[in-house]
Amino acid sequence: MTAMTRDHLQFRHRGRVIRLTGFSPQTTVLDWLRLEQRLTGTKEGCAEGDCGACTVVIAREHGGRLDYQPVNACIALLGQLDGGELITVEDLAQAGELHPVQAAMASGHGSQCGFCTPGIVMSLFAHFHSDGRATDRGEISDVLAGNLCRCTGYRSIIDAASMACAGPRTDHFASNEAGTIAALQLLNDGADVLVGDPSRFFAAPASEAALASLYQDHPDARILGGATDVGLWITKKLLTLDKIIHVGRAGLDHAVADDNALRIGAAVTLADAAPLLGAIDPDLAEILRRFGSAQVRSLGTVGGSIANGSPIGDLAPLFIALGGSVELRRGEHIRTLPLEDFFLGYGKQDRAPGEFVRALVVPRLAPATCFRAFKISKRFDEDISCVLGAFRIGLADGRITSARVAYGGMAATPKRAAAVERALVGAALHDPATWRHASEQIALDFTPLSDLRASANYRLGVARNILIKALAEIAGVSSGITRVADRRENLDAAE
Ligand SMILES: Cc1cc2nc3c(=O)[nH]c(=O)nc-3n(C[C@H](O)[C@H](O)[C@H](O)COP(=O)(O)OP(=O)(O)OC[C@H]3O[C@@H](n4cnc5c(N)ncnc54)[C@H](O)[C@@H]3O)c2cc1C
Ligand code: FES
Ligand code: FES
Repeated sequence: MTAMTRDHLQFRHRGRVIRLTGFSPQTTVLDWLRLEQRLTGTKEGCAEGDCGACTVVIAREHGGRLDYQPVNACIALLGQLDGGELITVEDLAQAGELHPVQAAMASGHGSQCGFCTPGIVMSLFAHFHSDGRATDRGEISDVLAGNLCRCTGYRSIIDAASMACAGPRTDHFASNEAGTIAALQLLNDGADVLVGDPSRFFAAPASEAALASLYQDHPDARILGGATDVGLWITKKLLTLDKIIHVGRAGLDHAVADDNALRIGAAVTLADAAPLLGAIDPDLAEILRRFGSAQVRSLGTVGGSIANGSPIGDLAPLFIALGGSVELRRGEHIRTLPLEDFFLGYGKQDRAPGEFVRALVVPRLAPATCFRAFKISKRFDEDISCVLGAFRIGLADGRITSARVAYGGMAATPKRAAAVERALVGAALHDPATWRHASEQIALDFTPLSDLRASANYRLGVARNILIKALAEIAGVSSGITRVADRRENLDAAE
């Protein structure tokens, strides 16, 4: 780290600047709130990011405005708060007056036992402050997909949410916004952060070069993106992580788009990546909408989703089908490889000690190329895929001229279906018999496992069916027929 290294965290909470040294690198925000601050309004339900009882909001300054992110305090690490303002349910009411979201929940009977209510209120508070906030049932359901309520029933909660978010965005946070922005700008001092000592620390380098140098010196450290996987290692696997290097402040949180490709920095959150990917194809937006919950997407990063090497992660098969590549850096050395070559085997990626993911490059679709992707999971929202299929199909004169077909959930890694791809090239788009034959080659490409999510036979069957569904849509069948949630009609007309 440099001469500009800060030895403490700094963030805002309840109108004050909190400066912290000497905390365990793996302390969660929830433990800090409940055990140290004795602020027990924020609840612990599942301790794994699923139920939303622990939802808090982190406000950050971006380009002179405040962004209110809902996050799961149970898995977010304390160090991730640096430079932000932590807002909890205790902070909403002022001078004995409920916040508009709380008032709507109370008058609309949106709470019974009340255990979920602080989390729901905080998710709605973030939505209350979001740009272009919506009040329709579908969008409010998306906002609340990561909040579980077992007794009230969602109708009254959604009605209360619509009512609160239809009103003006006036509260004491809005009236104090200029002061908060100025205070947060002062906190973001551009210093490298290292709290602890060389044997046990939480670090948040402030540049890519500082990150590269620190990780090269400590290849045994755990890189931290959004903590939506790593947080669970702490709360569920009870692992001890002595050295943590957070990539969130290292300048990897930018995306750049040109006519040919989108380059997404590893620390870009899933929430920020969603509209950029959706501009490539609406199926990408739909899969991002169903990726975890708003809380998971606020913290989880594109780099973490690829670096974790999960065989059931949603992004990798999408990017592989699109012909994506990954940029890696170790010290001064930068290399790029096709994403499919990054995954070597179960839990094993082509990444040397001290090497980190710096960006993903995702090509746009060439003319006369169609894309489709389908996520199959037990629940529609807030669930991990059992199979995800992604298909990039090139066409000329009614025939398939190129095919990139990738699946998650079918093997130990996200993987292309080479035999299917070979059989598809030359198939006539308007003769289903030709591409049905290709779909049967899936059994040559994969020998999936049976587990709690799906049996091997189900996986093979559904992988085949979603390929047929993709080709049927590309051949002109309306997605109103092929989909439960139809989000492609306008685009189909243009294709
Ligand atoms: C409730 C819940 C729902 C979820 N739903 C989904 C879902 O629908 N689809 C899905 O695919 N996943 C899902 N996940 C899993 C998780 O959200 C994703 O895998 C996520 O993208 C991980 O990103 P992260 O930034 O939080 O990674 P982290 O937890 O920070 O890190 C994950 C791994 O990647 C490494 N890492 C992170 N960044 C880098 C980097 N730049 N370079 C090198 N290594 C790095 C870490 O060391 C760690 O090994 C869910 C998780 C939860 C808790
Ligand atoms: S306690 Fe369930 S999401 Fe945090
Ligand atoms: S009010 Fe009881 S869990 Fe929601």
